Amino acid sequence: MKENISVNLAGLANLIPSEEVAALAHKSQALLETVNSGTGAGNDFLGWVRLPENIQAQLDSIEKAAKHLRSVSSATVIIGIGGSYLGARAVIEALSHSFPDKAPKKQHEIFYAGHNICEDYMAELLEVLENKNYSIVVISKSGTTTEPAIAFRLLKDHLERKVGKSVAADRIVAITDAKKGALRSLADINGYDTFVIPDDVGGRYSVLTPVGLLPIAIAGFDIREFVKGAVSMTALTRDNKNPDTNPALLYASARNTSLRSGKSVEVLVNYHSKLHYFAEWWKQLYGESEGKDGKGIFPASVDLTTDLHSMGQYIQDGQRFLLETVLSVRSLADRVRIPQEKDDADQLNYIAGKRLSEVNKNAETGTIIAHNDGKVPVISIQVPALDIFSIGQLVYFFEYACALSGYILDVNPFDQPGVEAYKKNMFALLNKPGFEEAGKKLRERLK
Ligand code: PA5
Repeated sequence: MKENISVNLAGLANLIPSEEVAALAHKSQALLETVNSGTGAGNDFLGWVRLPENIQAQLDSIEKAAKHLRSVSSATVIIGIGGSYLGARAVIEALSHSFPDKAPKKQHEIFYAGHNICEDYMAELLEVLENKNYSIVVISKSGTTTEPAIAFRLLKDHLERKVGKSVAADRIVAITDAKKGALRSLADINGYDTFVIPDDVGGRYSVLTPVGLLPIAIAGFDIREFVKGAVSMTALTRDNKNPDTNPALLYASARNTSLRSGKSVEVLVNYHSKLHYFAEWWKQLYGESEGKDGKGIFPASVDLTTDLHSMGQYIQDGQRFLLETVLSVRSLADRVRIPQEKDDADQLNYIAGKRLSEVNKNAETGTIIAHNDGKVPVISIQVPALDIFSIGQLVYFFEYACALSGYILDVNPFDQPGVEAYKKNMFALLNKPGFEEAGKKLRERLK
C-alpha cells in the first residue's frame, strides 16, 4: 500500500485561525458536488474530473506512439506553451537526472520549444539539433497559438531538410483538436500520427491526457503508475465528502481564509531542485484559474534553500501579504553523506556523517519556524517520495483543489479571457490580416 500525499496546516500557527479554515471547509463542502455534477461556472470544461479513469483506454496507444518515437530517434522536441507544455515538463524534470545529457545511463533527450519567441533560444536549439537524431511532438489545443506555431514551422522545416519529408512525417506527432485549427489541417495534409485533446478539458487541466502523458512516456516514465497516483487521489478528494479529511478542500479553504486576512500572494516553496518546474506548472494552474474579475491570490514560487539568499530577506521581513505553501518531500534515497575531516578547517565536522537530506530537512524546519515568527503562515504538502505515483497524486490534488478554490472565490476557474489582450495587440502590431485598423490605432498611441 503506497503512502498518500497529505496537507499539514500546523504551520498556519496562530496567524490564520484553524477554526476559520475548518468553518470554510465545512461551508464549502457542497462545492464538491458543484464540481462533480457540473453545476458551476465553466461546467463545459470539467472533463478532467474523471480523466484518471477515462484515460485508461488510451494508455496503450500513447505507449505505442512513445515506443515508436523512442525507437526512431534519440531525442524529442516537445513544442507547446502554457497548459500544452508545463505539465509534461513539471513531471519529466521532477523525475529525471539533474544532468540528463551527462548522466551515466543514457536517457532519451527531451528538448522544449514553442514556449517563447526568443530568437537566440531557437537559433541555439537548431544548432544543437543539427547533430541530433530527433523527433517532434507538437501540442496545441486551439492549433493556432502563435508561439508553438512559429516553433513548429521552423522545426518541421529543419527536420524535413535533415531527414526528408516522409521520414520527418513518421517522426512527428500532433496533439490537437479533433477537427478545428491550423495544426489539425497540417496533420491531416502531412499524415502525422495524432492524438485528440478533448473539448471539455482546458489546457492547464490536460496533464492526464496525451498532452502530458505522451511526453512523459517518451521521456521513459511509467504513465500507468502516474495515472494510478491520480486515480488514488480521486478517492481522497473528489469522492471524499468529509471536510475534515479531504486534503483538496482543506488546502482550498486554508488559502482562501489566508486571502481573506490579507495574504494576497502565495509562494510555493520547494527544497528539491527537481521541483522547480512543478512550481511553474502550479503557478499557471492557479494564476490562470483564479486571477480574474479583480480577484485571486498571486501565485509565486521560490527554490530553497537557494532563494533564501535572494528572496529570503523579503519573505522574512518585507510587506506582510505572504502565504507560503511548502512541498515537503519526506523520503529520498540515501546518496550523499558529509565526510569527516581530520583538521576540520571548514568547521563542518558537527554535521559529518549526516546525509545532505537531513541538513536540508533541518533547513526546511528552521525556515518554517522563522517564517512563522515573521508572520508568514505556512501550509505543508507532505509528499511521501519523489516518484511517479506521488507526482500523479500531486497533479490531481492541485487540479481538484484549484477548482474548489476558484468556486470559493466565486470565479470561473476554467476560462482565461485575460490571455487574449496581449495577443490582439501583437497581431495588430504585426499587421495580421483582420487586425490592420487596430494596428494603426496602436501605432498612434506609441508615437
Ligand atoms: O491553460 C490554458 O488554456 C492555456 O495556458 C493554453 O494551454 C495555452 O495558451 C496554449 O494553448 P493551445 O494549446 O491552444 O496552444
